[in-house]
Amino acid sequence: MSDKKKTGGLAGVSAGETQLCTVGKEGAGLTYRGYDIYDLADRASFEEVAYLLLYGKLPNSRELAAYIKTLKSLRGLPPQLKQVLELVPGDTHPMDVLRSAVSLLGNFEPEGDFSNQSRVADRLLACLPSMLLYWHRFHTDGKRINVETGDDSVSGHFLHLLHDSKPSELHRKSLDTTLILYAEHEFNASTFAARVITGTLSDMHSAVTGAIGALRGPLHGGANEAAMELIQKFKSPDEAARGVRGMLARKERIMGFGHRVYTVSDPRNAVNKKMSKMLSEEAGDTHLYAISEAIEKVMWDEKKLFANADFFAASVYHFIGIPTYLFTPIFVCSRISGWAAHIMEQRANNKLIRPAADYIGPPLQKWQPIEKRA
Ligand code: ACO
Repeated sequence: MSDKKKTGGLAGVSAGETQLCTVGKEGAGLTYRGYDIYDLADRASFEEVAYLLLYGKLPNSRELAAYIKTLKSLRGLPPQLKQVLELVPGDTHPMDVLRSAVSLLGNFEPEGDFSNQSRVADRLLACLPSMLLYWHRFHTDGKRINVETGDDSVSGHFLHLLHDSKPSELHRKSLDTTLILYAEHEFNASTFAARVITGTLSDMHSAVTGAIGALRGPLHGGANEAAMELIQKFKSPDEAARGVRGMLARKERIMGFGHRVYTVSDPRNAVNKKMSKMLSEEAGDTHLYAISEAIEKVMWDEKKLFANADFFAASVYHFIGIPTYLFTPIFVCSRISGWAAHIMEQRANNKLIRPAADYIGPPLQKWQPIEKRA
């Protein structure tokens, strides 16, 4: 393999330092600021994890209560932003809605100098579900909903706004756990995009807008929606196994499988898969979970490719009643914590990110006047 092939897409290249996360590191696995992802998924709330990422330590009970209060106070939307959300067509992809809404919030509430950067991070964390679901409910139910619910958690707030009623604790906790798993993942494409933008000394809204654009693609966050669409194509595990073998034979990519850094498994998958099974039993599902498992088996048997964080997250969201087109936006509502933490880390020791490229174009050309060109 040539050096170029090895480093294509910067695979295996270290592009900087971070204190926020290890991904697949020997002896550590996936950790956020040194805490194992399994401990966080089992024992923490998403708000504790966001605080850990943004403020550098796990909050004590007083700090957590104050943080929850702060986030609740930041859920409201400027009236002008609501007006624009009403004007954005209802068939727009919600990732495009969030991308535009974050950019607009930067117009109504510009960051200015960076002395209030934690406040901007908290504001985005608190109001992303409000932006998404204000737009969604206006265009699906024709309602101008009140986005300032009394729910303590981001997950409860999200499901309450979506379904117009308080969620069951099982559903809220399941969403909360996926938010924890999605919160941070080192120099993934969207986070790196945010750091590149931040490196020019741009504002947080610009960096997050760019990150949403990067997350949107099916090779990154968009994979959870694509995975759901695939799973729903099949009526039985046998049909799914045959169908996926056929796709592999046609060299098609199966979304929700494989990873740039992990080689044998994605640690987030074990948690999502367990939740998906439990929720499938609760929902009396007879085929969706079995189909997902059949696809997972074929992918491992045929290609030694494993399910990544997105594959079973898809059925978790489906079982708690979330429409497929809102799956990737949920990723945004979580990853904002990691993005903002990286933006602040980049600023703390900033250096413009501007790599070099190997030129592979034509040699120096002689100038041709326009009338002599072919
Ligand atoms: N389905 C089928 N084949 C695959 C898949 C897949 N999901 N993933 C990798 N491969 C194959 C490729 O075709 C390629 O085969 P080849 O060498 O014969 O050409 C080989 O495995 C290596 O794949 P690359 O794309 O070169 O690996 P890379 O590290 O660049 O890609 C990626 C990682 C983008 C995640 C890839 O595995 C993929 O496209 N997966 C599907 C999209 C997806 O699930 N993305 C979510 C990532 S996790 C997240 O964002 C939370």
